Amino acid sequence: MLVHRSLLYLYFSTFTSAFTHTSQIVGSSVRAPSSFAMSSLSNDNHIGLTEIGSESHNASSDMSSNNELTSWRDKITSSIARSRKIRGGNYVQISTVDPATLEPRCRTVVFRGFLKENGSETNVMKMITDKRSCKYSEVTTANLGQGQKSNCELLWWFAKSSEQYRIRGQLKFVGSDEEDSFLSACRKEQWGNLSDLAREQFFWKDPGVPFEEQAKVPEGGRDSDGKVLPPPNNFLLMLLYPNRCDYLRLGDNYRQIDSIKDDTMWNIQRVNP
Ligand SMILES: Cc1cc2nc3c(=O)[nH]c(=O)nc-3n(C[C@H](O)[C@H](O)[C@H](O)COP(=O)(O)O)c2cc1C
Repeated sequence: MLVHRSLLYLYFSTFTSAFTHTSQIVGSSVRAPSSFAMSSLSNDNHIGLTEIGSESHNASSDMSSNNELTSWRDKITSSIARSRKIRGGNYVQISTVDPATLEPRCRTVVFRGFLKENGSETNVMKMITDKRSCKYSEVTTANLGQGQKSNCELLWWFAKSSEQYRIRGQLKFVGSDEEDSFLSACRKEQWGNLSDLAREQFFWKDPGVPFEEQAKVPEGGRDSDGKVLPPPNNFLLMLLYPNRCDYLRLGDNYRQIDSIKDDTMWNIQRVNP
């Protein structure tokens, strides 16, 4: 039976359920069966996207495991592993929309891993931010229109493997008022895992307003005994619940779009690059 180049499969539950029942966001991805193998993938020296900047990239050796329809989540796991040692390899860009002007806004943040529950990684992408930042107000004051699923797009370029992921989804901010005890614990854990320098920034004066000398802040976000202070109210764990991923690999001009069909099913489709 076949859905040509397209496959519905179940892996993680979604944003909606994850918001309210975090235990449901755990699951394991189901790899497309081999009958879906993408034998049409070619290693020919195609021109086009290949010329954009991947001259030294050898798709055939590097990407052999990708000659089948695997989920974006499987793909990104191996992209991350391959670029683990690259400085800045965990910097991503996230875009939101300013609801007042409908203009796009984009900035770099650090990807801090996938949310884990019961020891298993979910699809949910962890970042941190400050409640005083524009991204927070942009997302929290926006009204999602009917049928609109995303309020954020995350862009991740892997220079080593010449891969681009454009991940759409909904951002959730986990702050001091979080009612979900699991997410609240994750926020505290993330605070404890930050470097002293990163922690200290949350005690700085309001960002984005005319410059003033900083007042004295607790060094390293610690008290006088060196103990880490509790997270201030403006410290937010920022979670992206993906619902669509547009994947592009320059080496062999391969593009795939994964999108959530309902709350639990993902559709994977190879598309023209
Ligand atoms: C390499 C790099 C990493 C950054 N990491 C973060 C981060 O993890 N979280 C964050 O909120 N801002 C981070 N920033 C700062 C943001 O890019 C941005 O300037 C800030 O969040 C304010 O953005 P906003 O007011 O538009 O929300 C980083 C900037 C750079 C250059």
